[in-house]
Amino acid sequence: MHSPSELLQKIEQAINNIQYPPHPASLYEPISYIMSLGGKRIRPTMLLMSVDLFKGSIERAIPAALAIETFHNFTLIHDDIMDNAPLRRGKQTVHEKWGDNTAILSGDVMMVEANKHLTKVDVTILKPALDTFNATAQGVCEGQQLDMEFESRNDVSIDEYINMIRLKTAVLVGGAMKLGAIVSKAGDDEAELIYQFGENLGIAFQLQDDILDVYGDPEKFGKQVGGDIISDKKTFLRLKLQELANTNDLNRLNAQRLEDKADKINNVTSLYDQYKVKEHATLIMKEYLEKAFMALELIDVPEEQKKELILLANQLMNRES
Ligand code: IPE
Ligand code: IPE
Ligand code: MG
Ligand code: MG
Ligand code: MG
Repeated sequence: MHSPSELLQKIEQAINNIQYPPHPASLYEPISYIMSLGGKRIRPTMLLMSVDLFKGSIERAIPAALAIETFHNFTLIHDDIMDNAPLRRGKQTVHEKWGDNTAILSGDVMMVEANKHLTKVDVTILKPALDTFNATAQGVCEGQQLDMEFESRNDVSIDEYINMIRLKTAVLVGGAMKLGAIVSKAGDDEAELIYQFGENLGIAFQLQDDILDVYGDPEKFGKQVGGDIISDKKTFLRLKLQELANTNDLNRLNAQRLEDKADKINNVTSLYDQYKVKEHATLIMKEYLEKAFMALELIDVPEEQKKELILLANQLMNRES
């Protein structure tokens, strides 16, 4: 068993050792840039913790971890174009620095790089690994499309929202952990249970992301606070407000225009405060965390081996970035 910080060290080292082709520099520089900005590396860490859980080899799982982190960073580059985001991990976003076209193409080639990492896994599990990776990547695209569609809709239900975040965020956390099970040659039932753990944790993780987008500390968050409000994202906070607000307040909400971003953020945040939607979101987040733990409980390995995962899952719900 390794601690998350030991695993993180191995991941950082492996990322440092990745060599991208030198030409054209303008295609590869943004990749090195985004990959070196850090981030929590939560998906590869969870993947390797899944490997530990099933007593697999960490060294042999590193390519799968790199595939997942590279894919994740690619989705961030494209997500920041779609969300018009200026900041990522406390630095300029790739599209702000190099323009949309480079951001699109560097992202595309990262998807290829992710596949190249993945084909380095043991050939006997290559097919299930690729199948899982592909299903995950497709789910993320579906979720991202729904997320954008919802911006211009006012009748999104909470169920639709949960399904959207399941796709855009949670399938990747689940998929990463399932890959960990696959490279460790765990059984199908175990792989499915660790997937369920990751997926439910991923839903809780995105609920927390939505909360931080409004209530994060600008110094620590690393992204633009209020970005979701500016683009009318149908987050849990927004949907809950729409459900609870009286007609007057609903009219106020719908009358918010984008001319003054700071005003819009302040007005919507004060409505969130008034209706205590953050507290509602935190409750639902804890429900999904519990669902994750229920799946973990069903996995037939000694409780001692699950301790680090439980600790990390709890820490993730109290993060600041
Ligand atoms: C950001 O993911 C995208 C979401 C799914 C919320 P992270 O919060 O894991 O971002 P980094 O990799 O740590 O920067
Ligand atoms: C992220 O959702 C989902 C993916 C990147 C696939 P968000 O748009 O909420 O992520 P952040 O807040 O920009 O990191
Ligand atoms: Mg975004
Ligand atoms: Mg987005
Ligand atoms: Mg977000």
